[in-house]
Amino acid sequence: PEASRWIQMDALQVTRLLPRLHDNDYKNTTGRLTVIAGSPWMAGAAQFNLEAAQAMGCGMLHALVDPAVYPILQAACPHIVYHPNTLSEADLTALLNQSDAVAIGSGCDHLANLETVLERVLHCSSVPVILDAAALRCLARHPEWLNTPHGDWILTPHVGEFSALCGRSVEEIQADRIRCAEEYALAHQVTLVLKGADTLIISPEGLRCVNKTGNPSLAKAGSGDLLTGMIAALAARGLTPMEAACCGVWLHGKAADKAIEKTSLYGVHHKEILAGLDAFLFDHQ
Ligand code: APR
Ligand code: MG
Repeated sequence: PEASRWIQMDALQVTRLLPRLHDNDYKNTTGRLTVIAGSPWMAGAAQFNLEAAQAMGCGMLHALVDPAVYPILQAACPHIVYHPNTLSEADLTALLNQSDAVAIGSGCDHLANLETVLERVLHCSSVPVILDAAALRCLARHPEWLNTPHGDWILTPHVGEFSALCGRSVEEIQADRIRCAEEYALAHQVTLVLKGADTLIISPEGLRCVNKTGNPSLAKAGSGDLLTGMIAALAARGLTPMEAACCGVWLHGKAADKAIEKTSLYGVHHKEILAGLDAFLFDHQ
């Protein structure tokens, strides 16, 4: 029946899914995530991906970045292992093989070889891939990548990016978000996170979730980059793509709800969101 296709998220459900830390854990057992993000003029997107993944408890973070933004990121996020985006094919494959999840696309608008790297990631990686921003626009230009059998992909478009992917106008999508999102997720066998107020999450099997946490303090450039890092960290910790997406979206909104208990809607920025996330995790670890 229709009702059984809806997944309900709440604090209890999220707490049950949260990966626990054990006494004998070490960095390679607490999620190995590779982030491909940022580019000249958009280094911040990589920083936001990485800080959010760290805040979610991800133990081992690798970042593939343009050498031009490396010094900035090294200073901002010193706990990361960095690689140049010009890595050889063999070295990139080796990096992917030792990752538990890969996030790609946030702020990659000016990454010269994004298309080559993305194709490699989508076809060589046996772990979940989270696609955001520029990676989604690149995928929209390569529908053939979607139409061949592939691994677990989590797509995180806002409505404009989704419009490019599915070829429908923004108005058409807004008029029937659920139907458009479901058709796409089923046809292309992806986990789709259609962002915005009431973010919609659809699994490749047609399970659906509408998110009710969050507030307009998130209507700010950069908040999507935090979400990508959070979902990717949860996927790297072993949650299924649908669990990682639903849990990540719920926590992202909850973090913003916590943030506005202390900061105005205007003043919330990435630091306040991450503090809000930690406040929730502190109470539910
Ligand atoms: N209520 C609840 N949530 C909201 C609201 C709202 N009113 N407005 C926005 N959000 C949430 C969305 O659901 C989403 O999770 O904030 C996030 C915004 O994400 P994006 O639309 O992706 O915005 P942004 O972070 O600016 O994306 C930055 O843009 O061009 C690219 O590559 C660039 O990575 C960079 C990206
Ligand atoms: Mg975005």
